[in-house]
Amino acid sequence: MDKDRKPFSLPEGFMLGTATASLQIEGGDKNNSWYRWAEQGHIKDGTHCIVADDHWNRVDEDIQLVKQLNSKVYRMSLEWSRIEPHKGQFDKAAIDHYRDEIQKLISAGIKPLVTLHHFSNPLWLEDSGSWLNEEAIDSFEAYTAYVVSQLGDIVSEWVTINEPNIYLIMSYAFGHWPPGKKSILDYFKGAKNMILAHIKSYKKIHELRKEMGYEDSMVGVAFHLRVYDPKKGTAIEKLVAKNTERLSQEIFVAGMTEGKLIFPVGSGYPMGKGKYFDFFGINYYTRDIISFTPDLGKAFAKTEVKEDAPINDLGWEIYPEGLYRLCKSYYDRFKLPIFITENGTCDSRDAFRTEYIYDHLYQVKKLVEDGVDVQRYYHWTLMDNFEWIEGLSARFGVVEVNFDTLERTIRKSGRFYSELSENNGVTADMIERYL
Ligand code: GAL
Repeated sequence: MDKDRKPFSLPEGFMLGTATASLQIEGGDKNNSWYRWAEQGHIKDGTHCIVADDHWNRVDEDIQLVKQLNSKVYRMSLEWSRIEPHKGQFDKAAIDHYRDEIQKLISAGIKPLVTLHHFSNPLWLEDSGSWLNEEAIDSFEAYTAYVVSQLGDIVSEWVTINEPNIYLIMSYAFGHWPPGKKSILDYFKGAKNMILAHIKSYKKIHELRKEMGYEDSMVGVAFHLRVYDPKKGTAIEKLVAKNTERLSQEIFVAGMTEGKLIFPVGSGYPMGKGKYFDFFGINYYTRDIISFTPDLGKAFAKTEVKEDAPINDLGWEIYPEGLYRLCKSYYDRFKLPIFITENGTCDSRDAFRTEYIYDHLYQVKKLVEDGVDVQRYYHWTLMDNFEWIEGLSARFGVVEVNFDTLERTIRKSGRFYSELSENNGVTADMIERYL
């Protein structure tokens, strides 16, 4: 990491904020796939999502935190299982709760980016074959239509699906997440259904908001992208790294941006060749070092963390340049605005998060200088929360949460991020005080 940190400014109009997901913060809902998974004892540290941050009951307090961070934008998700507790039956009180929350954000000068699917499913969907059943495509479209009919007048920016690749690999190929399947074929089957669901949802949001008189819809996917670098750079390693990228990322990018299904997901353009995104969303965390292994089950790829590299609490390499490389290459390819829909780190002692934020935003500043249209940065995450299979002990928040008392305290990195957002950059004085 660059230790010689200097002041810098982000361009005027650049927007900074944080991102969260409903299941990870809200608590209180038993009608979703993660509640059941936790009940079945799958969470590594034995914790549960049933309380999480109790955000459902603390919306006002948490919006105050967002304000204290000087955020201009906030990415949040909606819990499908609350909004549609039974197939085809929508709960007005649940959607009104979200409407109220969003209205409060807007009144506080914070623009919401709303995600429709972030890793959790209603139990009725889960029990009907989940995303392996192609009925999920129409169900997702119907859910989209209901949500947009209720919120379309106040929400213009949408993420349809968060990280389809991570969701599908963890849930259907590795079996670590619900429903715990272990089949690579199911992974590809789910990929096809999610790609088609995204396209239908994308079209629906535009269509309905246009009918309501709004032409400003911004809809995209939050793609989880990592850098795959060959270990020694041999030809075979490069091939394997490329193939890993294809199977874990490109199938989704090709499908969800222009409707193209590539092998082994499918072929051609079943829903027509189009442009099914208005911004390119990138969730960026780390890079993997790839070498060859004769194991077909692993698609011949051995994945490692770079030797001697700085790592976070979960052992992920901290590699800020990766953010630059990904944004640059996808911008060169698509020439559409980039939203960094997630970027953050697991650091329970808040020992390196401040530097992490500086170093990644410094890459953003370089990207902008090099002509890349990055417009947003959503730090993952606002406050410590239920980190899926890792439970409550993996801490990604710029706000610390005491899970016994649910008390929230802004960390040093949070104070830094707040000042950074206020100044739209880093001043010499901030470097002096924080770094
Ligand atoms: C992303 C995910 C978030 C959060 C984060 C940190 O993959 O979208 O929900 O868990 O990783 O691990």
